[in-house]
Amino acid sequence: MISNSPQDIRKDLGCAKSSDAGGSLSRSYLESEDVILSDSVKEATNEIAELRKQIDDHNYHYYVLDQPLIDDAQFDRLMRRLIELENLFPSLIAADSPTQRVGGMVAGGFERVTHLTAMRSLGNAFSAEDLLAFDQKVRSGLAVDGQLEYIVELKIDGLAINLTYENGRLISGVTRGDGTQGENVTSNIRTIKSVPLFLRPDRVSVSPVLEVRGEVYMPKGEFERLNRERQDIGEALLANPRNAAAGSLRQLDPKVTAQRSLDIFLYGIGVYTGIELTTHEQMLGYLKKLGFKINFQYQVFDNIADVIKYCQGFAEKRHDLPYDIDGMVIKVNNLASQQVLGYTAKDPRWAIAYKFPAEQAITVVEDIFVGLGRTGVLTPTAILRPVTVAGSIISRATLHNQDFIEEKDIRIGDTVAIHKAGEVIPEVVSVITEKRTGEERIFTMPTICPECEGHVVRMEGEAAHKCTNPHCPALFREGLIHFVSRDAMNIDGLGPAVLLALVDAGLVKSAADLYKLTMEQVLNVPRMGQKSVQNLLSAIENSKQAGLARVLFGLGIRHVGVKAAGIVARHFGNIAAVQQATVEELVVLDEIGIKIAESIVAYFATPENLQLSADLDAAGVKLTEEQQKKDENQLFAGKTFVLTGTLETMNRTEAAEIIERLGGKVSGSVSKKTSYVLAGAEAGSKLDKAQKLGVEILDEEQFKQLIDE
Ligand code: IVH
Repeated sequence: MISNSPQDIRKDLGCAKSSDAGGSLSRSYLESEDVILSDSVKEATNEIAELRKQIDDHNYHYYVLDQPLIDDAQFDRLMRRLIELENLFPSLIAADSPTQRVGGMVAGGFERVTHLTAMRSLGNAFSAEDLLAFDQKVRSGLAVDGQLEYIVELKIDGLAINLTYENGRLISGVTRGDGTQGENVTSNIRTIKSVPLFLRPDRVSVSPVLEVRGEVYMPKGEFERLNRERQDIGEALLANPRNAAAGSLRQLDPKVTAQRSLDIFLYGIGVYTGIELTTHEQMLGYLKKLGFKINFQYQVFDNIADVIKYCQGFAEKRHDLPYDIDGMVIKVNNLASQQVLGYTAKDPRWAIAYKFPAEQAITVVEDIFVGLGRTGVLTPTAILRPVTVAGSIISRATLHNQDFIEEKDIRIGDTVAIHKAGEVIPEVVSVITEKRTGEERIFTMPTICPECEGHVVRMEGEAAHKCTNPHCPALFREGLIHFVSRDAMNIDGLGPAVLLALVDAGLVKSAADLYKLTMEQVLNVPRMGQKSVQNLLSAIENSKQAGLARVLFGLGIRHVGVKAAGIVARHFGNIAAVQQATVEELVVLDEIGIKIAESIVAYFATPENLQLSADLDAAGVKLTEEQQKKDENQLFAGKTFVLTGTLETMNRTEAAEIIERLGGKVSGSVSKKTSYVLAGAEAGSKLDKAQKLGVEILDEEQFKQLIDE
């Protein structure tokens, strides 16, 4: 639910910009019917206030409690009505209306703001002994021998944020910064739907000025989705959810942040007055009553031994959580005791972070290899002496780009600490400089392309180096690999090795040549027998019917991912119409931004690219797509699917296409909000989770019945 952003709905209502559309309407109203207006304004003011209250309340039930009270369509109706009224009476639009969660660009960067009270960080404990020592210090500081309560919370791996409310209204959201001053990222904080714009005074008295602290994070599923999208469009992958959250929060355009589905857990208070709180646990309860999202995995213990057990237990369990944690936080529960203990120069004496045993290892960078992606970007990779980290053998780590290497000062021959957790790409964390012998070699990005000897340049304003030769064989090779890949033409049996053998034999000079291959030619490829050639040729033949969406994605047009390709293909219906589309015609489509639109237009302005489309057409590749009329069988409108395991008669991309065509959404991770899990053979943890949460599970047969196939 609440899938439609106010912007989407505004677009549907035909309001280009709220103030423009509504401004003229209300002015003409004013001129002609003054008396009626005063009544109407009054009525509208009341209705708007009521709608905002209701919408805030529904957002709270949906995003904080995870217990929606109404369905998406009902919610959309409330939102539409509010937008309608705000368009009619633009003077009534308020910055904290739920329609304004996505505001305008932040001009000239973020302003620096001083926190009312400093935001401290935490000292670290790495072992049971460290926790025992912490307990000893706390006890001697408080002079207690007997029972002492600790509250243990998860240490969410995101970035700390300070929210200030005045008389229950959100005034600012500021990053931790140096602890004293941070950056004002309020416009971006407002896009996080679980952040209340207003507190809920009906349940508890609200401190007139209230500073609350919490951690903004990106759920793992959202991180994976974002990286899949970036991979599709040839952009550098983000290293982990924390970096992704930090990057998203520092966007100058809140619309970008809004697309990133960030979330927040609150865990502390800075300034507050007029409320009686005795323990940290009570404080969490107070935050909850005010309408904040808190993390419920906390527990109170009366001895350090149980604290240690609880902390150690999460070292394993953390991989099952839908968000990253990098440890546990142990706090003295009693607030008066916290005051007595106070702070050292840096950290509180009443709290400590327990860090999980590192998913890190030490190894040596034996070499640095530069590979080329299909967009021509040169990516350096460290070739490592193989080492086991978090259960897998790691022999490579991405070095991202020249800036990353320089910032960490990574040299060939260096001993380095590497990190690998869950699905995250292994990364070099730091160089152990004490191990340097003087033999290490500084790496510089080649100025000549390692593939074609073309000129390499660093793109202005970007960290990436690129080969400038449009005919670089690496571009062609990587482009072909992309063309046949699962989400594009999905040609089974055409892995990189076979493909490159065909290229080397001079048989494939363009993607269209794949469709001219004969049995005889492919039989010459090493290790290709009669049967596998037959299979391959029939897979190539079948791929002719893949349709325009897949072809458009397969062409590897910069910034055009699976989703964008589908939207464009279904809107225009055939390749000629796409080729003739202007930037203006493209950007009006949902989810097609200016970058994508310009890239599509530029692609089809190149004669060679037009030639490729013509060749594909001549080869019999289907370059049309059924045009999707809105509202025509939107069976899955408002429903979210998670796909897991191997399906028999379709692959996951095909299933996702069907779901999206019927108005549904596909998500990477299972939550209470998931409507269905479509489970194939060997479905893993997602299926377990669905069972645990009571999410409806469909097998392939049931899914097909549902879609009436
Ligand atoms: S309490 C004075 N509780 O960890 C106490 N911090 O290394 C300040 N963090 O800057 C922090 N989860 O960004 C606290 N449950 C939690 C936390 C948490 C994550 C982060 C926070 C802080 C950093 C300290």
